Amino acid sequence: MYVLGIETSCDETGVAIYHSKKGLCSHLLYSQVDMHSEYGGVVPELASRDHIRKLVPLIKQCLKESQLTSNDIGGIAYTAGPGLMGALLVGAATARSLAWAWQVPALAVHHMEGHLLAPMLEENPPEFPFVALLISGGHTLLVQVEGIGRYQLLGESLDDAAGEAFDKTAKMLGLGYPGGPRLSALAEQGKPQIKFPRPMTDRPGLDFSFSGLKTFTLNIINASEKTDQDKADVAAAFQQAVAETLSIKCRRALQQTGLKRLVVAGGVSANKQIRACLTEMVVKENAQLYFPRLQFCTDNGAMIAYAGCQRLMAGQQQGLEIYARPRWPISELSGS
Ligand code: KG4
Ligand code: ZN
Repeated sequence: MYVLGIETSCDETGVAIYHSKKGLCSHLLYSQVDMHSEYGGVVPELASRDHIRKLVPLIKQCLKESQLTSNDIGGIAYTAGPGLMGALLVGAATARSLAWAWQVPALAVHHMEGHLLAPMLEENPPEFPFVALLISGGHTLLVQVEGIGRYQLLGESLDDAAGEAFDKTAKMLGLGYPGGPRLSALAEQGKPQIKFPRPMTDRPGLDFSFSGLKTFTLNIINASEKTDQDKADVAAAFQQAVAETLSIKCRRALQQTGLKRLVVAGGVSANKQIRACLTEMVVKENAQLYFPRLQFCTDNGAMIAYAGCQRLMAGQQQGLEIYARPRWPISELSGS
């Protein structure tokens, strides 16, 4: 079955076609970064309007690149949440309308389930069960994954998400938007001279908190002379603190569950130092580490097409309503 996947939850319009046996046929992404960077962050109304402009041409192009027509598509998967309401509605309404016109089922996909399953698109996908660390702009979750839709939340951020902490710290350093990749690039020029805290690692548990780290960073910036080298050193120390904090919690999650496979996904998993830190940790734990390829760490249509395909193949169905849910806990999902 060919499944068309549509992702419009935030600032990227992602479209892909995945086949249940042949795998990924094509995927296209249009990033709105240039448009939002003028405002220093995502402007929700502009995001929705741009998704409207880009989505249908991208779908047409994706069909063309796969050498398919609408008649070949057996189902449509769309991100129904969590995300920006207006942006979600564009994807949901388009998916539902096309499904009605093409007489195929449409399925609402949870955005974080898409991220969680993104490593399945790689050559050596992880087998269930595994521990998943999901680190994106809006969420930081540690999940025990038994199978599709069988997710037990082990820990989450009590305040800022990891990506949000990167973005806010980047803003303090005058790096603008998108902050994560820019901060990471600056950190390469610096040395972690000052030891930043590793929040919530000195007590048991698997929850995270990044807002204190952000305040600590602000105080360090204010106390410095704000030279380019000072800023690079702050970026390096901040990044190392986040990487080590994530690594400590992942090690704990592996030990607590007795599992030997760790999946790391979501936009922040593109970060080189975080990857290096986790790679070092899993060697010591005698565990395996799985990442999506870099372009599937951040938002994309391929992960939505994949997640939707698995659920559609398992016979999952939904009514005709347009389903969009800006807040949607992943623990509410059920198996396919
Ligand atoms: O998964 P994603 O594309 O969108 C959400 O679902 O939120 O994640 C976006 C987040 C942003 O906060 C961005 O700054 C962060 O991922 N990010 C990074 C890097 N690339 C993207 N953070 C740190 N280092 C990176 N290389
Ligand atoms: Zn995302």
